[in-house]
Amino acid sequence: MPIDDITQKVSERYAKAASTGEEMCCPTSYDMGHLKTFIPEAVLKISYGCGTPAGLKTVQAGETVLDIGSGGGIDCFEASRLVGPTGHVIGIDMTDTMLEIARKNAAVVATNLGYPASNVEFRKGLADAMPVDDGTIDLIISNCVINLAPDKRKVFREMYRVAKPGGRFTISDIVSDQTVPQYLVHDTQKWGDCLSGALTLTDYMIGMTAAGFLGNHLVKFSPWRVIDGIHFFSVTLTGYKLPPAPTTSSVQYATLRGPFIRLVDERGTTYQRGIPQPITSDETLLLSTPPFAEHFLLTTKPVALDRNDPRWTAVFPADAPCTWQGHYALLAGPFVEAADDDHHVYRRGEPLEICSKTVTVLETGGYQPHFVILNRAGNRVSGEAVTCSPNGGCC
Ligand SMILES: C[S@@+](CC[C@H](N)C(=O)[O-])C[C@H]1O[C@@H](n2cnc3c(N)ncnc32)[C@H](O)[C@@H]1O
Repeated sequence: MPIDDITQKVSERYAKAASTGEEMCCPTSYDMGHLKTFIPEAVLKISYGCGTPAGLKTVQAGETVLDIGSGGGIDCFEASRLVGPTGHVIGIDMTDTMLEIARKNAAVVATNLGYPASNVEFRKGLADAMPVDDGTIDLIISNCVINLAPDKRKVFREMYRVAKPGGRFTISDIVSDQTVPQYLVHDTQKWGDCLSGALTLTDYMIGMTAAGFLGNHLVKFSPWRVIDGIHFFSVTLTGYKLPPAPTTSSVQYATLRGPFIRLVDERGTTYQRGIPQPITSDETLLLSTPPFAEHFLLTTKPVALDRNDPRWTAVFPADAPCTWQGHYALLAGPFVEAADDDHHVYRRGEPLEICSKTVTVLETGGYQPHFVILNRAGNRVSGEAVTCSPNGGCC
């Protein structure tokens, strides 16, 4: 399908959905009872997202928020409430029918929130050429839209352009565990269903990093559909456009506390658990952001940590045989590579088959936020317990 055809067909699909109010796309976890107190039903019934990017404690009072592919406006209106009357929200969408519904309801929402005037505006535009000034946005949100855009790299570059230095994004979207094959890419219906245009998690994160965002990582994950063995899942991701680093910083070293034994960040810097690593002021900024911060000790002088130090952390696998049950782990950032205490090396977004012991480890504390765990077994697996090495370790 040529690029213009994709855009045209997606727009027609969503124009039709907006006028009929049909149900589409994916499960979300909105608190509808709460949203109904200030957002009209006409907006709520055409909510076609796959996450709740505005509802994840990411929006702060007074901020300027941009919603890419705002549809009927559900996330813009929740952001409007959260930024307060001094904040500002911009929704961008290419589909007139969506924009009409959103605009019609902006005044109603403002009245319901007790604002003197609406702090939300809806602009017509494409995600890859946004009618937004450079460096003006604190927080970019988007809900199940970028998968629909034919040129994602261009969208990521646009996001970086409009973000303020120090700005960030929180985006919910559908991704896949492997490259979507051409026979699905050219299926118009599945493109509109938020499937055919899905990037792999690896490509999503590479695209964001190439655009300039750093610290790209997972906030939320939920499985959605499996088609011909391809797992499609919804993720909410966050990343930062770092501000210029201060020229003088007292921090000179970072020591990885654990539980990973080794990490490589998006700039290629490697950190070994317990060993102080000299860092630049740019790296200090990055390692001070969540979720890096909890893994590192930032110091003015080199500080080595050993297992007797309470700041050193590890999660060891149980000393028992394991069973293979079809599980795969995908490292979901902000690191591009990470190693654990059981000889696994995880690369961002690349599925690595793991056994039951490792599932237990990765579902624990310091590891859990960084992984998507999928089960690729077609049927329930009975799986005999196996011991993979003479000392029982390995899986
Ligand atoms: C799946 S709906 C999601 C709408 C809204 N974010 C929500 O959560 O209800 C996708 C929306 O993105 C818009 N859209 C899709 N591709 C777009 C693009 N390339 N540029 C601008 N808007 C786009 C569609 O018109 C539609 O309103």
